[in-house]
Amino acid sequence: MRDMNIEVKKMRLKNKTGIITGSGRGIGKVTALIFAQEGANVIVSDINKEDVDQTVAEIISNGGEAIGVVVDVSKKDDIKKLIDEAVSKYGKIDILVNNAGITMDSALLKMTDEQFDTVIDVNLKGVYYCGQAAAKVMAQQQSGVILNASSFTGIYGNYGQTNYAATKSAVIGMTKVWAKELGPKGIRVNAVAPGFIVTPMTDKVPDKVLEIMKEKCPLKMLGKPEDIAYAYLYLASDEAKFINGVVLEVTGGLTL
Ligand code: CAA
Ligand code: NAI
Repeated sequence: MRDMNIEVKKMRLKNKTGIITGSGRGIGKVTALIFAQEGANVIVSDINKEDVDQTVAEIISNGGEAIGVVVDVSKKDDIKKLIDEAVSKYGKIDILVNNAGITMDSALLKMTDEQFDTVIDVNLKGVYYCGQAAAKVMAQQQSGVILNASSFTGIYGNYGQTNYAATKSAVIGMTKVWAKELGPKGIRVNAVAPGFIVTPMTDKVPDKVLEIMKEKCPLKMLGKPEDIAYAYLYLASDEAKFINGVVLEVTGGLTL
């Protein structure tokens, strides 16, 4: 048969440079550790300096390569600094994981404008700022991968998440637009929509709600950060070279 000489790669991101926003903890941190293990040069970026330093230290002590950049993704000037530092250190940007995100949950009838605007600034404008800035570099290179963190909430809705769901739906819209606009420039753009994953973000969710989500999931469990990190790894790797504009739901079947 033709084209069957499939190479099994051990270092799936060897010689790639990847920026992961919000990689000081949670899903982003585990993604950074796994990307580094797979050979990537990682730019760890987060609003929290101590967490940035800790993630970078762990990558280096595992024999990986990383630098840290403290950023607030909702501030355009910070993003310029992030992109400039990545390019000046490694000369290119192959992967951007737009992972940084926050929740400020409240029922619609109690939600304040501040809660709404703050979540929009980080989860939506942050993705736009980082995506646009990275895409400019990637377009010059004629290659790159952008991965955006959506959520099952952005597809199916979730109690108390008017602001958050609005951003996570919008991220899906942007992903599809960018997949169309940037595909001809050699850039793939995809989104991942996780279900409930055990991280500091879900620590704030009432136990009662977590129990409901676990029960609703056919696998009868909540996800772990690595369940999402491995989805990012696959989509970032050349193995996914024909995958563009998808929203990969990683929920354990929660929404079936
Ligand atoms: N479904 C149906 N009803 C719900 C509900 C749910 N998931 N959650 C709360 N309610 C009901 C309560 O039972 C209660 O009803 P009664 O008044 O009849 O008793 C009513 O809504 C008010 O609930 P609370 O007392 O909890 O109200 P509150 O104003 O103190 O809090 C809330 C509201 C902030 C939304 C809180 O219920 C909450 O935190 N819920 C969880 C929201 C959630 O799932 N967030 C996910 C965060 S993690 C994440 O976002 C990652 C991701 O992508 C999945
Ligand atoms: P987390 O709260 O554990 O980690 C988020 C990280 O983003 C933190 O390190 C935080 O400091 C950083 N961050 C927050 N605001 C920032 C800003 N303005 N600039 C830079 N960094 C900032 O969250 P978790 O669970 O790891 O979530 C990661 C992403 O995955 C988020 O976009 C979240 O919405 C999404 N997600 C999470 C799910 C879950 O169940 N945990 C489910 C679906 C989506």
